[in-house]
Amino acid sequence: MERKTILTGDRPTGQLHLGHYVGSLKNRVRFQDEYRCFFIIADLHMLTTKPTKNDIEAIADNARAITLDYLSCGIDPAKSTIYLQSAVPEIFELDLYFEMLVTVPRLQRVPSLKDMAQNAGIEEMPLGLLGYPVLQAADILLPRAHLVPVGKDNESHVEVAREIAKRFNFLYGEVFPVPEVLVGDVPTLVGTDGKAKMSKSLGNAILLSDDAKTVEKKVRGMYTDPNRVSADIPGTVEGNPVFAYHEIFNPNKAEVEDLKARYRTGKVGDVEVKEKLAQALNAFLDPFRERREKASQKSGWSDEVIWDGVQAMRAEARQTLQEVRKAMGISSVWNRISRKAEDSRKKREKTAQP
Ligand code: TRP
Repeated sequence: MERKTILTGDRPTGQLHLGHYVGSLKNRVRFQDEYRCFFIIADLHMLTTKPTKNDIEAIADNARAITLDYLSCGIDPAKSTIYLQSAVPEIFELDLYFEMLVTVPRLQRVPSLKDMAQNAGIEEMPLGLLGYPVLQAADILLPRAHLVPVGKDNESHVEVAREIAKRFNFLYGEVFPVPEVLVGDVPTLVGTDGKAKMSKSLGNAILLSDDAKTVEKKVRGMYTDPNRVSADIPGTVEGNPVFAYHEIFNPNKAEVEDLKARYRTGKVGDVEVKEKLAQALNAFLDPFRERREKASQKSGWSDEVIWDGVQAMRAEARQTLQEVRKAMGISSVWNRISRKAEDSRKKREKTAQP
């Protein structure tokens, strides 16, 4: 049987962090051998909230940084295609056809769009931002993906892609698989400040590219149980981000259980719990650092990866669009007109002979 296809990606707005890893990146690395994988650097999606010249100028560096983040996770460009969205114009064409298959009220019900507008300080919804999930559907369906590993916040976008795929298939015939969403085992990672979500713009993120010293410093400053004024009073483990990270990133389960027990009974200080966490996180990130180091030694490598990816994706995209236009009957319209145009030109040239 032919291998199935994965598509997912990120906007080039900054470096990736542990929340991205547990939400989506881990699944990408895991499925790399089983699936054909496409990873999109979604600069057009970035434009929906950041359209200025300065934002655009920053895309190249941010795209390189994301590619290095991907490589540091163990994504292998020999197995997976990493590419820049705006360099694949086929996406625009598919996006436009898809715009006819979804209603404005349906998009207005997508919860994340209002949040994105608000966070960007945008008062009235731009058409492009309303169309964000439609563009994402074009990304997903262009290589006819079956599986979309994303964080929880993108689940509602994949739902729109599923609806568009079904609607297209119903109107024009079976062209697209209906893609499944895959959310990681930690759908939303809490921030170092205890706020609901790790996010670079909130300043509560541990980056995949942070060095050991930075990780230590960020962990030392982490939010813990605010009621615990000294080490000898019982502390709360539940909802404490330091312990949440221990559970996720510290492979030494016995150590975690011991720390939890001592914390609850006032027999361990926050300093020790945090030191152990910093050690665990740094041990977790060390292989990322090695792979990043290797990748950055070959200068220009991330640019090669992205540009090779663009060519590979475009080859794929041309095939899908040919099928799309054929299914819709658009290519038949073009054929009829172009054939007639050719015929009539020939005829005219003949009769015009002296
Ligand atoms: N919307 C994703 C984000 O939150 C980025 C993205 C763009 C994406 N196109 C995609 C994710 C296609 C999965 C599939 O940054």
